[in-house]
Amino acid sequence: MNPAKRRTVIAGNWKMNFTPAQAREFIANVTPLVAGKDNCDIIFCAPYVTIAAAMEAAEGTNIKIGAENVHFAPKGAYTGEVSAEMLRAIGVEYVIVGHSERRQYFAETDETVNLRTKAALAAGMKVILCLGEVKEQRLAGITDEVVGMQTKLDLAGISAEELKNVIIAYEPVWAIGTGLTATPEQAEETCAVIRNVLADLYGAEVAETVTIQYGGSMNDANAAELLAKPNVDGGLIGGASLVPEKFAAIVNAAQ
Ligand code: 13P
Repeated sequence: MNPAKRRTVIAGNWKMNFTPAQAREFIANVTPLVAGKDNCDIIFCAPYVTIAAAMEAAEGTNIKIGAENVHFAPKGAYTGEVSAEMLRAIGVEYVIVGHSERRQYFAETDETVNLRTKAALAAGMKVILCLGEVKEQRLAGITDEVVGMQTKLDLAGISAEELKNVIIAYEPVWAIGTGLTATPEQAEETCAVIRNVLADLYGAEVAETVTIQYGGSMNDANAAELLAKPNVDGGLIGGASLVPEKFAAIVNAAQ
């Protein structure tokens, strides 16, 4: 983290978990544990049908609720999809775009990730843009090239002004849901590579202001070490974001 230069953001990605009632209960339980922890932004990204209940439960707290995806078209024949305007209409401020599970299971590409990012930004939302290498790419020694290419393609056509509303989540795919975490050194190295690419695209001054989270089996036991690295500005947390005590411990590590 480097709080002097950029905001630390601890975000939960609930994935396909929590009914509205379960979300209300979770928020009620986690709220007292994270109250007053103002050195980071705290966000939970929820399934579409759970967003409204979670927002209601989080009203008046330091917790914000986001969505897990958004479609790029303003409206039309896209069965099962949700537009940026629809999310804004219910007060959603944050949205995850480009998660590796979307890329892997739902055929999302850098091109559609870029379009979704643009649609969310145009609607006035803040985007948590996920990218990261798969295991074979890390083993082949091409992680830097892969994340560099994703950064460039996913942000194509996005201005420095718009970039103020983009958080990047570096999520090595081999570390997601596997219990394998990147070492703090690996996380730092690749987050720094992403920042260098941002510097090429937008200039060093702008790049220094962008929050770059790490995601991939971040938990209560490893968060402090990861967040101690200067280029790791927060976390995007899956499994541990479903357990109030574990999530709160990560928020504490960011204080
Ligand atoms: P886990 O924390 O369960 O590995 O998930 C990480 C993730 O995919 C967050 O978006």
